[in-house]
Amino acid sequence: MRRLEYRGYDSAGIAVLRDGELYVCKRAGKVADLAQTLGENDGLLQAFVGVGHTRWATHGEPNDINAHPHLDQKKLVAVVHNGIIENFMAIKTKLVRDGHQFLGGSDTEVLAHLIGVMFEQCGDLASAVRAALAEVKGTYGIVVLSPKTPDRIVVARKGSPLIIGVGDHENFVASDASAIVAHTRQVVYLDDGEIAEITSENIRTMTIDDVTVEKSVHQITIELSQIERGGYDHFMLKEINEQPDTILNAMRGRLLVEEGDVKLGGLQNTMGKLLSARRIVLTACGTSWHAALVGEYMLEQIARVPAEVEYASEFRYRDPIVNIDDVVLLISQSGETADTLSALREAKQKGATVLGIVNVVGSTIARESHGGVFVHAGPEIGVASTKAFTSQLTVLALITIMLARARGMNRERGVMLARELASLPEKVAQVLQNTEVIQKIAQEFKDTQHALYLGRGANFPVALEGALKLKEISYIHAEGYPAAEMKHGPIALIDKNMPVVFIVPRDGIYDKVMSNIQEVRARKGRIIAVANDDDTEIEDLAEFVIRVPRTYGFFGPIVNIIPLQLLAYYIAVARGTNVDQPRNLAKSVTVE
Ligand code: M6R
Repeated sequence: MRRLEYRGYDSAGIAVLRDGELYVCKRAGKVADLAQTLGENDGLLQAFVGVGHTRWATHGEPNDINAHPHLDQKKLVAVVHNGIIENFMAIKTKLVRDGHQFLGGSDTEVLAHLIGVMFEQCGDLASAVRAALAEVKGTYGIVVLSPKTPDRIVVARKGSPLIIGVGDHENFVASDASAIVAHTRQVVYLDDGEIAEITSENIRTMTIDDVTVEKSVHQITIELSQIERGGYDHFMLKEINEQPDTILNAMRGRLLVEEGDVKLGGLQNTMGKLLSARRIVLTACGTSWHAALVGEYMLEQIARVPAEVEYASEFRYRDPIVNIDDVVLLISQSGETADTLSALREAKQKGATVLGIVNVVGSTIARESHGGVFVHAGPEIGVASTKAFTSQLTVLALITIMLARARGMNRERGVMLARELASLPEKVAQVLQNTEVIQKIAQEFKDTQHALYLGRGANFPVALEGALKLKEISYIHAEGYPAAEMKHGPIALIDKNMPVVFIVPRDGIYDKVMSNIQEVRARKGRIIAVANDDDTEIEDLAEFVIRVPRTYGFFGPIVNIIPLQLLAYYIAVARGTNVDQPRNLAKSVTVE
């Protein structure tokens, strides 16, 4: 449960079966709070069948009652659930009419009651789950157990991830591999609309209509060290520092420097579609959406492929004009983000070729795409995404070079770009060695209430991402804008207390950004500049300068974001917030 806590952490609970009895313990707060309560009830965990859950509240506030597991009216079943039951109100109304009483406001409690009713009628847990789910609209990854069938659990999935770990005289279920990797590396990925009945010896998989499904067993490759803090104070700091390696991993075996070209096995089958595409639509959420924005610059400017970016959460609901000539590129660290998955299905249904840039192998987006590229960043545990972002950008750069070459870019330019890309891990390492000034800036601004982040061109998305990092983990209100856009409104916010972070590399629009810096300076804003090592003019204008090595324009974001990740990190630490598990957030947002 501790290993899964990063997915949701407002409350936690367990249910175990022992001697034909169901024992439940749940608490608002962290797994540590639950552990403390359990410590006072030792013996509760001495059981062979059980379930645990960490919650990210959707329906009902995060308190002891709304924590999972939920029981039905007669305590015949215990249920944990990720996702949302959309028609829970209608079901609840009917159950209340039949005399049911509910303790809290959770949609899962309603589902537990419904399964309980079905179980009472048919006496078979898997059949009861199937019957209940037939009445349910929404998304779920559920685990159900009952004291009446103490040797088994029943699990089902639609829209929320579930994997089954295959052990030796023991089996496991989890919503991601990190929870079970210490016990087994053999896993079965449950697909949407599937149910499994699991005992210590057997796994029976079937559809919701009771048709048996044969599933293959996959091998997971993550190492325990990848999901541990390894001496760092926080996962976020560890992951920031891993970036020289993770960026290299994203290119390993793919970037052919001497040929000035790129080879991406996962796109081989769809290369024809990519080359003839009318346009590429990039869609994603949050940090991955920022990566998409940088990708748009790369694809259009370097490969000259028309590209558009859209929030995945908006894509599906505006009935987009997408057809078989389009390639839709989904970007997702987790590969499970519900909004992004919906966009994938919408685009697929309209005939487009859908490709994924995904970190988690075996995730739903990876499995449902026609092709794609894994970013190989390794597990990202800190809720604020860092290394996944730079790996996504690296993969976008690889795709760009590959398309550019296939569309006629000469070898010489290909080699120049490939060399630039290959130099990035070293440049990122350089930035990571120089955190002194960033820590100083963090101390200076830790009590600020607002911050502005400004950049132009491909560094505009870097401004957005820098602002997102700060607000996510320090709760300081921060906004990112294209630098020139400032004068159309946000400039009204600038006074002597407003920190303004400029990303100002020495590129083709350097002078323009310098003019924007002057505008802030004239209004006494406090200027923090992320500038190149060889920039001698910036010191005269900025109060603080963070130095970064000069990098080819469209690859610059991969280096320039690093100091902004660190700045957010050190400010959050100085403010004493929970860096790895910031309030209200969850790592993987599997609800729409
Ligand atoms: O797993 P995904 O990349 O699909 O997640 C998308 C967003 O939920 C995610 O980037 C979110 O914005 C992070 N908290 C950013 O730090």
